Amino acid sequence: MMDGRTPRAVRLEDYRPALFLIDRVDLYVALYETHAEIQSRLEMRRNPDAPPSERLVLDGEGLEPVRFALDGRPLQAGDWRIESGDLIIDRVPEAFTLETVCRIRPQENTALEGLYRSGDMFCTQCEAEGFRRITWYLDRPDVLARFRVTVEAEQARYPILLSNGNRVEQGIRPGGRHYAVWEDPYPKPCYLFALVAGDLVCRRDRFVTRSGRAVDLEIYVEAHNAERTGFALESLKHAMRWDEERFGLEYDLDTYMIVAVDAFNMGAMENKGLNLFNSHYVLADAQTATDGDYANIESVVGHEYFHNWTGNRVTLRDWFQLSLKEGLTVFRDQEFTADRTSASVKRIQDVRLLRAQQFAEDAGPMAHPVRPRSYLEINNFYTLTVYEKGAELVRMVQTLVGREGFRKGLRLYIKRHDGKAATVEDFIAAMADANGIDLGPFMRWYDQAGTPEVRVEDDWDPASGTYRLHLSQRCPPTPGQPHKDPLVIPVVVGLLGPDGAELPMQGPAVRAAGATEATLVLDRETQTFVFEGLAQRPIPSLLRRFSAPVKLEYDYDEAALAHLLAHDTDGFNRWDAGQRLALRALLEGVRAVQQGGRPQVADALVQALGHVLAEAAADPAWTAEALQLPSELYLSEWVHPVDPAAIHTAREAVLGALARAHREALVGLYESMATPGPYRYEPSLAGRRRLRAVVLAWLVRAEPEYVARAEALYHGTDNMTDRMAALGAVQAVPGAARERLFAAFEARFRDQPLVLDKWFGLHATIPEPGTAERVRRLMDHPAFDLRNPNRVRALLGGYAHHNPVGFHREDGAGYRLVADAILQLDALNPQMAARLARAFLRWREYREPLRGHMRDSLERLAGAQLSKDTYEIVSRSLQAQG
Ligand code: BES
Ligand code: ZN
Repeated sequence: MMDGRTPRAVRLEDYRPALFLIDRVDLYVALYETHAEIQSRLEMRRNPDAPPSERLVLDGEGLEPVRFALDGRPLQAGDWRIESGDLIIDRVPEAFTLETVCRIRPQENTALEGLYRSGDMFCTQCEAEGFRRITWYLDRPDVLARFRVTVEAEQARYPILLSNGNRVEQGIRPGGRHYAVWEDPYPKPCYLFALVAGDLVCRRDRFVTRSGRAVDLEIYVEAHNAERTGFALESLKHAMRWDEERFGLEYDLDTYMIVAVDAFNMGAMENKGLNLFNSHYVLADAQTATDGDYANIESVVGHEYFHNWTGNRVTLRDWFQLSLKEGLTVFRDQEFTADRTSASVKRIQDVRLLRAQQFAEDAGPMAHPVRPRSYLEINNFYTLTVYEKGAELVRMVQTLVGREGFRKGLRLYIKRHDGKAATVEDFIAAMADANGIDLGPFMRWYDQAGTPEVRVEDDWDPASGTYRLHLSQRCPPTPGQPHKDPLVIPVVVGLLGPDGAELPMQGPAVRAAGATEATLVLDRETQTFVFEGLAQRPIPSLLRRFSAPVKLEYDYDEAALAHLLAHDTDGFNRWDAGQRLALRALLEGVRAVQQGGRPQVADALVQALGHVLAEAAADPAWTAEALQLPSELYLSEWVHPVDPAAIHTAREAVLGALARAHREALVGLYESMATPGPYRYEPSLAGRRRLRAVVLAWLVRAEPEYVARAEALYHGTDNMTDRMAALGAVQAVPGAARERLFAAFEARFRDQPLVLDKWFGLHATIPEPGTAERVRRLMDHPAFDLRNPNRVRALLGGYAHHNPVGFHREDGAGYRLVADAILQLDALNPQMAARLARAFLRWREYREPLRGHMRDSLERLAGAQLSKDTYEIVSRSLQAQG
């Protein structure tokens, strides 16, 4: 319970336009060591599109009032009041200027929303509703205003003073203080406001847009990180060029600034002209960052840059439309990465995340549509569903209208809504209008939760050479949505001949006769698609590139899967065929373990793997994906009730058996995939290193000698990628080597908390029951800090979300540990606490006694004083299913 009050839900259907508009904002922010003073001057008027009102209500949270003035006249005690933080003035004219002055305490702000301190600097995070913790305002995304901001602080401690837009003035104040004035020419909602003050060094570059405008690029970091910003800067330039080439979208200000912040709840934030980034997504060099870190930096830098058009220039009407910017922008960053690296590997990685985590969210008590209909706390809806499934919906639109059609649609959307706040309907309407089609029925995807299941059956008539695919769809009920309507599901298919060749298609199902791929659009409960003129029964390659976020069921036999794995031209489906083969073997293995036996590995899987290994050199990055067996997390979607220990035992047994069966090929690959020369990040080299890391992890399970090889790799390499490969390989092998390597890593990086996060994460995910004690011990490590989200994510997030065997310990000690941490954390940082609490969401699905222990922990949480954030997760978890 929260203070005995039940928080009120915000509902989409209650949306009303704001009663007032704000045309201009003038902020004066004075920063001191004990507090900050915010003077705000708002030029306001009644909204002509809303019912007339005299009463003004401005959002505020935790602000100490100092004074107010309306049209220059000071307000007296009876003229205003504060109710649950909000400022209420009962009588205001049609148009007026409101001045407010308040005090806040950034130094005490551990929630990291609003204005807060990170180390020696001041910074802000306003999305979604942080601006109300800085000053009173209409804190909603459909109120767009022009901002002018003055930042004032002590010059010696805070030589750098930044805000959005262009610096128009700077100067000195008495007492060793100075100030800078910033103006943002583009109207924006307050969630895009940002401010930074600190002692930072700047790395500069310059980008000339396609139309010839020069843009200054600046990355700000603390001095000791100055040498680690080069890659982020290169990434930014690549992203800027890519958006011009793919969508014709150019940057629109003279400066683009990125600031690295150590204490940051999220990955990064797209504030207009002044992005704030978690240091983790900015800083990289060979010694401290892995190939994976480099790839993440490029994609996050791209993502925040792409928001400049999809989010900032065109913003949101309300927070229910969140996927309009996030789903679309994730889609854009996915396409960017696909173009920069390998499209099929990128697709595989994204689908793996979607299947293992978004599908799970969609099947549990927090299931919600991509456009939710109600929430208690908006911060809880920055979810995999809004982001990843949202991106899948945008991808389906592109599949339906084609790449060129999609580009036209996006440009029309931007043209229509530039400088305004939009809805999902506006986006879909622009896509439909630009392509002259009806996308009305497609909207259901945004409003219906749950993962649809598409069942495929086929028949073959040799006499006429006719092949038929019968498709049907159903979607399981989710909380509040017992009945589901059929969705528009694009199913991209190819047909393979017995020799592995792609068969040219013809017949009613095919738009262009002779093509080797067709997009079947399933928009009713069941439909049949007919292919004609075939000489032999084909093997269908279904849902190529994962053309829709669904569970596809088709009774492939093992031979067909092996055939697809060997011959499909679609790299995604080739991978997926291997995953389906492996999934079967693993599920049989789980059954065997549960019956007290030992998993046997079918020859079909061993042979299929042999082919993959034999072809490894042709595409190491793809092979690395193909060698990764379905994760324990993903397997838990298939085992009812979930039995984490049996899943782990079975998976390890299958892994070991496969590794022993292919010992020689693996040893050969370990040698041949070495990357000579000094480290440099480059996707093709990263693919080789990734493959080598996976191979090493297999080998340590088959060949004790490879534990020593891992140690040698750790000590012999010049880069973090190989070090992590070595640590990752020995992590699951108890023994002295593991502890020696862990100790070596700690000794080497003890003064670099960001690097030590990798080490916290490795400890946290050791798949052993004893990890609970390790985690408790590490919470007392000098580098651990509950107030730093990166530390929390690495240690507690790693343990609760990525260590099924450790967390789901038989005696419930893992749950108690995490529940204790949630309670401590909730008092400091509700957003982070709520995220950790999600580890308990699916408690009902676990076998006893786990289920009972999880419920006990949830009930303990429910009995405590909780933030709105954590309360929402805990109460939803405990609510009756339905
Ligand atoms: N707008 C978000 C950041 C954000 C999220 C702020 C939630 C406040 C609350 C930003 O564009 C974003 O989506 N960042 C992602 C990384 C991105 C690459 C998907 C993040 O921070 O995880
Ligand atoms: Zn985003």
